[in-house]
Amino acid sequence: MNAKGASFTHHPDRFSGDWDEISRLAKRADELGIEGFVSASRWRAFGGDNHYSGDVMETFAWAGAIAAITERISIISTFPMALINPAFVAKAEATVDLISGGRAGMNLVCGWFPPEFELFGVEMQEHNDRYGYADKWMEAFDKLWSSDEGFDLKNEYFDLKNAMSQPRPLQSRPVLLNAGGSPRGRQFAAEHAEVAFTIPDDPDPQAVKARVAEYREEARKKFGKEIQIWLSAYVVQKDTTAAAEAYAHDYIVTRGDDVGVADLIEANIPNAKTMPPEKMAEMSYEFKAGYGAYPLVGSASDIAQRMQELSDAGVDGLMLIWLDYENGLEKLAGEVLPRLEEAGLRAPATA
Ligand SMILES: Cc1cc2nc3c(=O)[nH]c(=O)nc-3n(C[C@H](O)[C@H](O)[C@H](O)COP(=O)(O)O)c2cc1C
Repeated sequence: MNAKGASFTHHPDRFSGDWDEISRLAKRADELGIEGFVSASRWRAFGGDNHYSGDVMETFAWAGAIAAITERISIISTFPMALINPAFVAKAEATVDLISGGRAGMNLVCGWFPPEFELFGVEMQEHNDRYGYADKWMEAFDKLWSSDEGFDLKNEYFDLKNAMSQPRPLQSRPVLLNAGGSPRGRQFAAEHAEVAFTIPDDPDPQAVKARVAEYREEARKKFGKEIQIWLSAYVVQKDTTAAAEAYAHDYIVTRGDDVGVADLIEANIPNAKTMPPEKMAEMSYEFKAGYGAYPLVGSASDIAQRMQELSDAGVDGLMLIWLDYENGLEKLAGEVLPRLEEAGLRAPATA
């Protein structure tokens, strides 16, 4: 699950992002046997009412605190590779690894939001060059985590001398997630990550199946490697399909944050201004709903059935987001997880 609001809406149920709420949520997810808790990385707010995006906490400090109050959930720090030095990240992530007893992971962002680069005073490179840099970043990070002694590393981006990272982490490598969507981004994910996110263009499970197979095949062919393919999905669960659809319409359309989402689209989609209005409206809807995530909207039985279909299509995992996380997680635990357990899709949580 993702521990920060991902919808663009003014609806009062939206996530507060307060530490009290985050910590309650982390403890509850831990208790329920949810596998991972994923942070969002944001250093500058989008436009609009300047809500959640600007208030996202720094994700390694956040992870250290989550580590101290949970027992088994993986804790994933999302961060922009271009803006944070690998020597700092190696130490911060080792700190989380030690506090958590080996539960630290990272979601690698090869970022794209110009105001954040301006904030750091870093020039944003061309898209594919960012991934070239990210490859070298990973080389430095992997060496910092695996070397017990100082080493030198010199290339076009780094000149590390007698580099090392202490304290030494527990894991040999943290779990790595990446959501590169472009061809170059997918290649980066296949090479370095254990979990690659994909955003299907078409929610039909058959289309998802083809997309997942493509990703898996690329990792096998290019890197001789098995990777897990996950989707991020937004969940709107109500007692009936109609009630869920009505609630979704209310928070996405009636109370959507159109200014914030326009900012996001402009930063992400190079030809946004010349796009046909229907296409733009569709994209705006998807981002307002849940940052372009896969829709899981309906009753518990609708949602469990769709999860089964996604699993049959080869999807290995889902990162879930809600408008109201605490209520959403409880409803999922009460009515969807038992269905998944019954279907053999999930093992019941053990004490
Ligand atoms: C599930 C998921 C979570 C993401 N989380 C963040 C985030 O917290 N911060 C951020 O700047 N970008 C985030 N991204 C954006 C991706 O890391 C990546 O930049 C984007 O998919 C573009 O990839 P591309 O340049 O290869 O097309 C996320 C994307 C997905 C699908």
